[in-house]
Amino acid sequence: MKTIFSGIQPSGTITLGNYIGALKQFVELQEEYNCYFCIVDQHAITVPQDPLVLRKNIRSLAALYLAVGLNPEKATLFIQSEVPAHAQAAWMMQCISYIGELERMTQFKDKSAGKEAVSAALLTYPPLMVADILLYSADLVPVGEDQKQHLELTRDLAERFNKKYNDIFTIPEVRIPKVGARIMSLQDPTKKMSKSDPNQKAFISLLDDAKKIEKKIKSAVTDSDGIVRYDVENKPGVSNLLSIYSIFSGKTIAEIESTYEGKGYGDFKGDLAKVVIEALSPIQQKYHDLMESSELDDILDKGAEKANQTASKMLKKMENAMGLGRKRRR
Ligand code: AQP
Repeated sequence: MKTIFSGIQPSGTITLGNYIGALKQFVELQEEYNCYFCIVDQHAITVPQDPLVLRKNIRSLAALYLAVGLNPEKATLFIQSEVPAHAQAAWMMQCISYIGELERMTQFKDKSAGKEAVSAALLTYPPLMVADILLYSADLVPVGEDQKQHLELTRDLAERFNKKYNDIFTIPEVRIPKVGARIMSLQDPTKKMSKSDPNQKAFISLLDDAKKIEKKIKSAVTDSDGIVRYDVENKPGVSNLLSIYSIFSGKTIAEIESTYEGKGYGDFKGDLAKVVIEALSPIQQKYHDLMESSELDDILDKGAEKANQTASKMLKKMENAMGLGRKRRR
């Protein structure tokens, strides 16, 4: 059985973008693959986090993974910082990375732009992501389009390590969804939707209530021609809303376009809000039930145990390949 690894940062409440680009794929893939899904809290601290809020977000993300349909009997769900091999392997991957290639990462450029104090970890976090993936010998990594460049780096570093030391790593393939690979901000449709966007109106979180969802969709930036048509270049706002509508309703973009022919954006946005509210309502119900139960800790304990077993074996292979430590006596 082939293996999958992917992770999400607990850097806020996950958005429709994270759901469509990543989580939705995870649920589909758990049926056919040996899956490891991670809450990458060590990635989250590459930018400042309030410790109390981070702890809350970690738990909340775990509950959301399950609420959207992840089955802990089929997939391993765990918290990155509870598996020390990630940070240890990341150090080794940093040692074979070049500063130039890390500086070329667009996420580093975006997140450091205009900031006075940028943590060293913001530059070196891609090797941590590389380690996350390689520790589990993942064949496939389902992510949104924004992570494509990091996946290319993962492949490069895995090949570099295999060639220089020992051929121990599987070279992973990236899996990006055909529709919704890049859900855009509701306030600036040329920018991707992000859970840490300071403008709350720019994203819909999976836990937003019906009123908030309706308000955010109604205030989403569109254009002035009033025609519901998919045209990313000239109508990025409407095209983004059409993608979201299509994914949540199961209708094709062409079907939706013809439904709203001759109608304005008011009807279109009102119906889209209903579709999103209806889709998120059972997820939110399940989420609140899980947050009140002790089930969550049991699942995360078991997940950490299984992930530790797999990751520590690969870490040992890496240390042996690089010549770290001593050869163990039997
Ligand atoms: N707008 C998006 N559309 C489609 N997929 C997206 N993803 C993120 N934004 C979109 C995918 O969600 C997964 C988890 O992302 P992450 O939490 O590891 O980090 P990120 O890509 O930096 O996501 P955010 O929401 O933008 O987080 P912050 O605001 O903390 O930086 C990944 O598979 C990602 O591709």
